[in-house]
Amino acid sequence: MAYVDDATINAIRRRHPIKEIVERYVTLTKKGNDYWGLCPFHPDNNASMSVSTKLDMFQCFACHKAGNIFNFIADMENISYGEAINLLAKEDGYYVSGLTKKQNPHAKDYEIMSLAGKFYQNNLNSALGNNAIKYLEERQIDRDTIKKFEIGLATDKQALTPFLLNKYDLNDLIELGLSNDNSSDIFNNRIMIPIHDLNGNPIGFGGRIYQTRDSSKYVNTKATRIFDKSKILYNYHRAHNKLNKDNSIIIMEGYFDVIRASTVGVNNCVAPMGTSLTKKHIQILKKITNNIILCFDGDKAGRDATVRALELLEDESVNVGIIRLEEKDPDEFIIKRGKEEFLKKINNPLSVIEFKMNLLKEDKNLNDTKEVSNYLDEIIRELVKEKDSFMVTLTLKKLERRFDVDYKILEDRYNKYKKSNKKDSLSNNLKVNNTKKKLLNKYGQATNNLLYYMTVSPHEIIDYAEKHVIMIMDSKKRRLFNELIYYYHKYGTIIIADLISYLNTKTDVYDVFNEIINMNLKKEYTKEEIDDYIKCVNDYYKINKTDKLKLELNTETDPMKQAKILMEIMKIRGVNNND
Ligand code: UTP
Ligand code: MN
Repeated sequence: MAYVDDATINAIRRRHPIKEIVERYVTLTKKGNDYWGLCPFHPDNNASMSVSTKLDMFQCFACHKAGNIFNFIADMENISYGEAINLLAKEDGYYVSGLTKKQNPHAKDYEIMSLAGKFYQNNLNSALGNNAIKYLEERQIDRDTIKKFEIGLATDKQALTPFLLNKYDLNDLIELGLSNDNSSDIFNNRIMIPIHDLNGNPIGFGGRIYQTRDSSKYVNTKATRIFDKSKILYNYHRAHNKLNKDNSIIIMEGYFDVIRASTVGVNNCVAPMGTSLTKKHIQILKKITNNIILCFDGDKAGRDATVRALELLEDESVNVGIIRLEEKDPDEFIIKRGKEEFLKKINNPLSVIEFKMNLLKEDKNLNDTKEVSNYLDEIIRELVKEKDSFMVTLTLKKLERRFDVDYKILEDRYNKYKKSNKKDSLSNNLKVNNTKKKLLNKYGQATNNLLYYMTVSPHEIIDYAEKHVIMIMDSKKRRLFNELIYYYHKYGTIIIADLISYLNTKTDVYDVFNEIINMNLKKEYTKEEIDDYIKCVNDYYKINKTDKLKLELNTETDPMKQAKILMEIMKIRGVNNND
């Protein structure tokens, strides 16, 4: 990308107030100092997006999208940041050259992965693929499906690496998880299922054994610079615009479940790959729909995975449907019972409370009065979590009919739990907050807070932080820390909306920055708080550094060197005592 100076971009940005830009797409209403409207980036019915004319930024409190006018236009028009700048420049009668196409920093990686995928597909179509094709035919995977899911074959001929070496470096192939150090192929004798990121770029493979049973059923690409399992879902790039009429997405467990479902016209399925569902997965899905259907394996493991997923979904504002299958998994269900039975299932998912009622029933003898009483009590406790009041009434009515217990009694019990739950929910909320905080551990949180206040109060904090922070361990955050200092010294201030333009091409740093400006910390802070953050950041560094030195000490045999390491540890500890 040709160099376009920040001043030009900032000038374009200043000519277009954020409110005018957002109002091209969204109706805004003034509330307090800011404007509010329906967020166009997720299904929103609460006007969750705020527009600050003071900061020249927009921010959605539900889906956490935030940015300046260029981010907004880029996302609305599905164009790159640079193209958004150009669009507005053109309106002003300018053309800024060099901003047209955003070159993805991983373009070459995708090219390599795509080529590897084609290579595998060719193998499957050649004579080498006869047995694999036979295996797939036995599994009732036809040619169209093979083509649609770009299924291929890794042979034992060690042919992929030499093929790719004609054009690419071995280092890249190793980094991408295709080759070993000694130039051999990572994948051998496996049916290869390509995995794509959310935008459809090929980033990895799932390889299934098909001739033997002597090693693990699937080998997936290791974590690489482009492949992070926790941030993607298999088949998302195909499924996200194939939501069915009730606008839902179905989560399954396996590759072949998703593939099989598509053969009966159910194309809105995704799968986490051999890991349990994470908050990140849910965030991804929430951006496209509020309706999530869980369709896990029919066995006990699948049932337990459903329960875990429900716990994760409990405090998300999404509608959840559950499907339980009377076969091993969706793949087998469809093969054995056919399309119609499957459609009936997915068109009538269980509600959360229905699922829980079945679950609670499993280990009970409902001819025993005492057990019935326990059962009713347990259901009502679960029912307290239900947000839909119709659902509550309907369930209580159902229990009334089924067990011949007076509605009033059931309702009283419900109200009693509801009341005590309100009290509990405070401590529950604290619990949730605590676990969240643990996740973004103390040091991570302190670093984020420090970076936040450096950004919003640069005059007060930047020089102070630069002077007192020894080292930030997280490399991305460290880069952001340095960028903030650099930017502040260069321009004498930080205007966040302009800083966004500056950081936009530095993808890694930008992601961290985006997370940080989304934190919405209180505006006021005390010097003690800032000192605490800095101390925390420094302590973390010291702990890490001394741990590393201690390890070295353990393996070091030379007494002179041992003494040197000890001195170093003492020195770090000394720094500790001075603050
Ligand atoms: P399953 O064991 O349920 O496999 O694992 P499956 O989908 O039914 O596989 P088939 O039908 O026998 O071919 C579910 C998912 O977990 C991941 C894969 O993504 C798989 O689709 N997995 C499973 C692994 O990554 N490694 C394994 O060894 C097993
Ligand atoms: Mn299966």
